[in-house]
Amino acid sequence: MTWVFSRSLRDMQLKRPKRLTTVLLSATVLGVNACSPSIGATAPSQVANPGNPPAGAGMPGAAGIGDPDFPKDGNGGYDVDHYALKLAYDPPTQSLSGTASVKAKAVQSLSRFDLDLHGFTVRKVTVDGRDATFTRDGDELVITPSSVIADGTTFTVAVDYAGKPDPVRNSSNLGTYGFIPTKDGAFVTSEPNGARTWFPCNDHPADKATYDFDVTVPAGTTVVANGEMRGAPVTSGGRSTFSWREGHPMATYLATITLGKFDVKTGKTADGIPLYAAVDPTYRRNLDFLYSVSSKVTDYWSKVFGPYPFSSTGGVIDDFAAGYALENQTKPMYGGFDPDESIIAHELAHQWFGDSLSVKRWKDLWLNEGFATYAEWLWSEHNGGATAQATFDDYYADTKAPIWQYPPGVAQPKDLFNGSVYIRGAMTLQALRQRIGDQTFFTLLRTWTDQHKYGNVTTDEFVKLAEKLSGQQLDALFDAWLFKPVRPSQQ
Ligand code: ARG
Ligand code: ZN
Repeated sequence: MTWVFSRSLRDMQLKRPKRLTTVLLSATVLGVNACSPSIGATAPSQVANPGNPPAGAGMPGAAGIGDPDFPKDGNGGYDVDHYALKLAYDPPTQSLSGTASVKAKAVQSLSRFDLDLHGFTVRKVTVDGRDATFTRDGDELVITPSSVIADGTTFTVAVDYAGKPDPVRNSSNLGTYGFIPTKDGAFVTSEPNGARTWFPCNDHPADKATYDFDVTVPAGTTVVANGEMRGAPVTSGGRSTFSWREGHPMATYLATITLGKFDVKTGKTADGIPLYAAVDPTYRRNLDFLYSVSSKVTDYWSKVFGPYPFSSTGGVIDDFAAGYALENQTKPMYGGFDPDESIIAHELAHQWFGDSLSVKRWKDLWLNEGFATYAEWLWSEHNGGATAQATFDDYYADTKAPIWQYPPGVAQPKDLFNGSVYIRGAMTLQALRQRIGDQTFFTLLRTWTDQHKYGNVTTDEFVKLAEKLSGQQLDALFDAWLFKPVRPSQQ
């Protein structure tokens, strides 16, 4: 199933007037897979290891972090604190090579542990500077350090690797993602689990970390990564090295090193947040628009959702026709189309909902997409367009829409980005706002972003906070809107 970024497609599906829609939607909303039977439920290796090993022997870390819908994503036994990626990319040969240093803390005594990595030749692995042995098992890079890592210890694993990145192409309804080579460089957007197509990592949003990127490319190529540049690029011998740092915790899928020819505009928003906008020369005409809209949206959301959580904001338009945009931390990416205000409002709302507050399990994705879609409705309301209630009413009137069959509170692994997760997720928030009133509702949004800043969240936590701040019993409302495969009544 291909991904379509198409207002008209979603408009047709939902029989909605054009003005009210944005973002994207998988072309089949009905082709939803039944609840995944948690594919063998990731026997954690602790369970697979029979008998009690002698004290001090350590145990292998699990091959998955424990998300039943994505049993092999992420890993158990440690928590990453920082990734330092020193990489070089050669566009003509599409060769990516270098060293990823992953600083982590053991949360059990570890005899062995995994990183996620797809493809590449691994040349060498060290743990705290000492050679480690390793094997490959699918997307698991299985590492055995020369001695057991004690529980609670901080250690650094350095992986030296090279090869031609192999992004995930047209997988079920998730589209093409990961490190995607383009004519002039690469388009790098990794939701949900494509970070492993360019660096070894604990590839799940439940383990967030800070990042340093040092990326060497042919002179004339620009590297756009998350966070801020650390000084000007250094050029010698026809190659330039760009250094970027994201100093706030970030999920692996939000990391990027997008490469290519770019026109760049930098400055600050009216409220003083540093802003970096970059466009492929094909989209030169959009640079001022991207810059100015990103600026005013960032400042406005900072009032509505709480202080901007990161040290800079911005956006990137590249010419790969991904069919979607992605809220890469501090640098949302727009893949091969002219973004309008609504989608910029959406991707920047994700800086709070998705990036600062990240899902702990992918099934709760409405906490990202429902909120960012609701932000589109708020942006329209703010600008004198349709109110969020009018937008809600239009969707609600369509009694035959496929969103009623897909409960958005349980995003399906093969169709995570279903229109219901976006639209019915947003409708849930409007239903809640109607119920608890504007004042409590907006206090709730700001309390939510404040209490869980840089952390991981679940639907349950949101429901509990909503009930606490409103003093109301809201189970029935959330149950009807998020968890039932039917259109809620009495709205
Ligand atoms: N989170 C992105 C958005 O809201 C969508 C990402 C789609 N990713 C994908 N692999 N198809 O706009
Ligand atoms: Zn989104």
